[in-house]
Amino acid sequence: MHERTVGEACEYVYCRPLKFELMNIPLHVTKSFLPPQEEYVARLATIWKTGQLTNNGQLVQLLEKRLCERLQIDRCLLVSNGDAGLQLSIRALKLNGEVITTPFSYISTLSSLLWLGLQPVFVDIDSERLTIDPTKIEQAITSRTSAILVTHVYGRPCDVVAIEAIAKRYDLRVIYDAAHAFAVDYLNQPLPKSGDISMISLHATKLFHTGEGGLLVANDPELHEQVEWHRRFGHRGNDAFHGVGINAKMSELHAAMGLCVLDHMDGIIEHRRKTCEAYRERLFTAEDRVQLLAPVTGATENHAYFPVLFSSEKHLLRAMRIMRKEEIYPRRYFFPALHRAFPNLTGEHSLPVAESIAERVLCLPLSHGTSEFDIERVAAAVLGR
Ligand SMILES: Cc1ncc(COP(=O)(O)O)c(C=O)c1O
Repeated sequence: MHERTVGEACEYVYCRPLKFELMNIPLHVTKSFLPPQEEYVARLATIWKTGQLTNNGQLVQLLEKRLCERLQIDRCLLVSNGDAGLQLSIRALKLNGEVITTPFSYISTLSSLLWLGLQPVFVDIDSERLTIDPTKIEQAITSRTSAILVTHVYGRPCDVVAIEAIAKRYDLRVIYDAAHAFAVDYLNQPLPKSGDISMISLHATKLFHTGEGGLLVANDPELHEQVEWHRRFGHRGNDAFHGVGINAKMSELHAAMGLCVLDHMDGIIEHRRKTCEAYRERLFTAEDRVQLLAPVTGATENHAYFPVLFSSEKHLLRAMRIMRKEEIYPRRYFFPALHRAFPNLTGEHSLPVAESIAERVLCLPLSHGTSEFDIERVAAAVLGR
């Protein structure tokens, strides 16, 4: 017999599933959106026709074109994953020495710097945006600083105006880790138009995904070309090389998934918007225990995550214990703060805002499959009922 899953029960419609059927289904922080299987199979026909599985095939080119249209940008490059995308960006911009970065992000933001032998310099975050506090950047700049690499965490834009004014004053490059920021506009323009390069992760857990993948947006056409050859071993034709590169190409199989998912993006975002609204309705009365984040002024929301801030780590851990009993698995995105991840490599720092946020923040389950019943289960646990 075919068993119904949460995803199936709620696909495409915002519905209330039968309580007794879904009671014991574990609820994870996210669940990848899967397009109807026949749509994926139909997309694969191109591969059988061309015989091409990778190396900038038709599907990769088509997806890049469609993403430019969707995101209202002039150019973009698909790569094998977001982490490789950050490394390519660092190499293409020829960074060296110290890079100013955020302590509140996923490990990849930090590890991409360390992996390439750069020295991260942490600057604390703003308590409202949760992104780097630009008023603290200048005091961290030294003669060895070459760039600023910061994250639009949860799709909440950094203060790009202030950051870029500083970058201009000190002749620094700017990379935005826009892993979470697919389809976000800020101050009436697409967010990736800010800075030198933005990296959007297309990992399976992301709002828009290709299974594994990443998208790089380099605003300067010359830089775009640099990134382009860096992602394919540095090749200039078959027998010559522009320089040293790596293999960070996206395959046609991944691009096929992206093309299918892209067709469903409006429905995916709308479902998440409703889910976030429903969480807000249920949780806004608990302001003494959990704080909901106000949107960043001037930014559109993509509803990629639903983070809540507990009044203390004790309350967070208590809510997590209740949830675990109910088989609800939210995630402490991001804990620990990054300056605590490798203290032997990055030294001791006191970054009180990032530490306080990292100890108290929890991302609640949110995906295309989240049902009204799921929201009620989660909200009850958050409220300690
Ligand atoms: C903020 C941030 N940066 C970078 C990455 C790395 O992206 P990917 O998983 O596509 O390599 C992630 C992935 O979760 C992320 O959340």
